[in-house]
Amino acid sequence: MSGDGGAPATAAEPRLPEAAHISTPEGRRLVAQIGDEADRHGRKLLEVRNLSTQFFTPDGVVHAVDEVDFDLDYGETLGLVGESGCGKSVTALSIARLVAEPPGRIVGGEVVFDGIDLLRLSSEEMRLLRGRRIGFVFQDPMSSLNPTMTVGRQISESAAAHLGLSRPAASTRAADLLSMVGIPRPADRLGDYPHQFSGGMRQRVMIAIALACDPMLLIADEPTTALDVTVQAQIMELLRSLSERLRTAVLLITHDLGIAAGMCQRVCVMYAGRIVERGLVDDIFGRPRMPYTRALLDSRPRLDVEPGGRLRTIEGFPPDLVDPRPACRFAPRCAHRRAVCDEAKPDLTPRPADGEGHAARCWGTEAGGWIP
Ligand SMILES: Nc1ncnc2c1ncn2[C@@H]1O[C@H](COP(=O)(O)OP(=O)(O)OP(=O)(O)O)[C@@H](O)[C@H]1O
Ligand code: SF4
Ligand SMILES: [Mg+2]
Repeated sequence: MSGDGGAPATAAEPRLPEAAHISTPEGRRLVAQIGDEADRHGRKLLEVRNLSTQFFTPDGVVHAVDEVDFDLDYGETLGLVGESGCGKSVTALSIARLVAEPPGRIVGGEVVFDGIDLLRLSSEEMRLLRGRRIGFVFQDPMSSLNPTMTVGRQISESAAAHLGLSRPAASTRAADLLSMVGIPRPADRLGDYPHQFSGGMRQRVMIAIALACDPMLLIADEPTTALDVTVQAQIMELLRSLSERLRTAVLLITHDLGIAAGMCQRVCVMYAGRIVERGLVDDIFGRPRMPYTRALLDSRPRLDVEPGGRLRTIEGFPPDLVDPRPACRFAPRCAHRRAVCDEAKPDLTPRPADGEGHAARCWGTEAGGWIP
């Protein structure tokens, strides 16, 4: 990784520190081999298979993530979109093994990262791997930055801990990272605290922290929701250019299909804990095969709508995820609902005629279905 201000003064090939605290020899081997390019054999960076996460609450079991299935290529930016409460963040937290347990628990599935199932790693192995290979940018930087620690220290501690850098080298790297994310006079800002930065600048700092260890995957969970539109666009452009330059894969979580379309080639649409459609952005926009995706597209703000005209919203509310209906979860809000939709769960089935890798979960658009 190199910064705007020149190559960082770090070892060219940062290696994992000798992981003496990893519990098993197998674990040490697993963590060390991640990132070995020679060993990829055409596999994906991330393969999420039938991932299910639940919360065990006094009101019942919340089925937050239900058999979620998708993959992400090395260096790819993939969008995960859907309404509030559909399970986007819990999916991301489950991938990074950050779900608070209790009340949460990953109850099934696999999260294969660079060939290794993360759900089999011990917490220590996972902590090491997360810091080194997976960066996380949260929606609200104020709640994830430490208000009592300078930003320089927050960035350099991560670099020092995971890359084994000396204090001066870590500090140089922190300045390089601040420069790379577009903070002016980076060396002078290392001693500043988070409250001394604007909202957009704090989000840039979060991105610098997430990139401190040169991760293979950056998970960006609604990274711009709290920002105004102009700053949003700048942060998105920063993420796009950095991921391209550093060849970092990004899982971009957003409720805004427009943002996903501007950043990603492929998107997954989530509804009530399940992936209901996935495919190339052009195919999803051009020929959505799940009525919920169509409704999401129709509810986007548009420039060609008459001024003062009402924005179309999706009628009804997302379902309660405590004991949700086993069949189609969108049925109570769907204009195309038929008896079968209430009787059986539609699978996420391939729709090759509607685009490469296109898949949808809807009885009405299955072969012989009633939706054209
Ligand atoms: N700690 C928790 N305890 C109980 N339920 C939870 C907990 N965290 C999340 N949930 C539930 O899991 C479901 C999915 O939540 P999640 O935060 O993933 O939604 P989201 O798609 O990220 O929404 P948003 O767009 O508002 O961020 C919701 O029903 C939520 O209430
Ligand atoms: S399965 Fe039925 S209810 Fe569900 S989205 Fe398709 S048509 Fe609508
Ligand atoms: Mg969320």
